[in-house]
Amino acid sequence: MSTAFAGKVVIVTGGTSGIGAALSEELLKRGATVWVIGSRQESVEKAKKVLGAYPKARFAAVDVRDIAAVERMVKDCVKNDGRLDYLFNNAGISQKNPYTESTLADWKEMIDINLWGVIHGVNAALAVMENQGNGHIVNMSSVAALYGTPYQTLYVATKSAVIGLTDCLYYEYLPKNIFFTVVCPGDVATPIFRGRVPEGAVPAEEAARIILDGVERKERLIVFPDFMKEVLEKCKDPEFRDLAHKYSEKESREMFESPEYRKFVADGKKGQKP
Ligand SMILES: NC(=O)c1ccc[n+]([C@@H]2O[C@H](COP(=O)([O-])OP(=O)(O)OC[C@H]3O[C@@H](n4cnc5c(N)ncnc54)[C@H](OP(=O)(O)O)[C@@H]3O)[C@@H](O)[C@H]2O)c1
Repeated sequence: MSTAFAGKVVIVTGGTSGIGAALSEELLKRGATVWVIGSRQESVEKAKKVLGAYPKARFAAVDVRDIAAVERMVKDCVKNDGRLDYLFNNAGISQKNPYTESTLADWKEMIDINLWGVIHGVNAALAVMENQGNGHIVNMSSVAALYGTPYQTLYVATKSAVIGLTDCLYYEYLPKNIFFTVVCPGDVATPIFRGRVPEGAVPAEEAARIILDGVERKERLIVFPDFMKEVLEKCKDPEFRDLAHKYSEKESREMFESPEYRKFVADGKKGQKP
């Protein structure tokens, strides 16, 4: 097993669930000290029950929308463990619904968590990493942002911005020995799907191993599963791209037109799959 993370100090936002929880556990297994972060005390307590057995696991409730809380998180980490080697800006929420049903409040929540959350993490971590003279920041995006996905406008807008900002920072900080990676997963089996995990989704543990292996190799962009790389390559052909969208849109459109979804919206639960 790789030893790249042994003895390193890592923060994982959104570390209490799904990909973040799997990343946290894999990092702990690989010998890192890991700050496992969730926004809610309840989710942090739940994560403690699973990961608390690892002596190098630390836990904190931090809402990534709150810059003061994010700065405190980084300060606490450095005060306690002496440094910060890796920050995984993984916390995020998803959205899937027809655009007409998205409100400005929905936009704000999506941008606050998925984009400002990443900016807050980047700023707080850079302050420490520039002093150290090294570090690695890993930002979580999605293949949806490389592909253009109907019914996910808010989500894709934020995740595209994460790709853009990471790309710029990669080149700006390379001479300072600070690395940036953006991760674009396809479907990963996590609670983000609220019980409706798509067929063929990658198990979270496998996703964590793929991500950490790529981070260890200091890859700038990590895309998985492999077949998504092929789809993205083929999407350079506009005809294939139209065809691919026709098929991915068909399933969503059928769901949004169903009486089941209409009832779901009427019950005030829009934005999530019924
Ligand atoms: N699963 C996929 O198929 C997939 C595909 C592409 C990209 N991604 C991205 O991967 C990341 C992780 O997704 P996941 O599937 O593992 O989701 P998940 O299981 O729903 O976990 C989301 C995590 O984010 C945390 N979080 C949410 N709002 C937060 C906030 N305001 N402040 C701090 N933490 C917050 C949650 O903690 P609390 O519960 O305490 O709020 C939870 O730990 C997300 O950025 C997502 O967009 C996922």
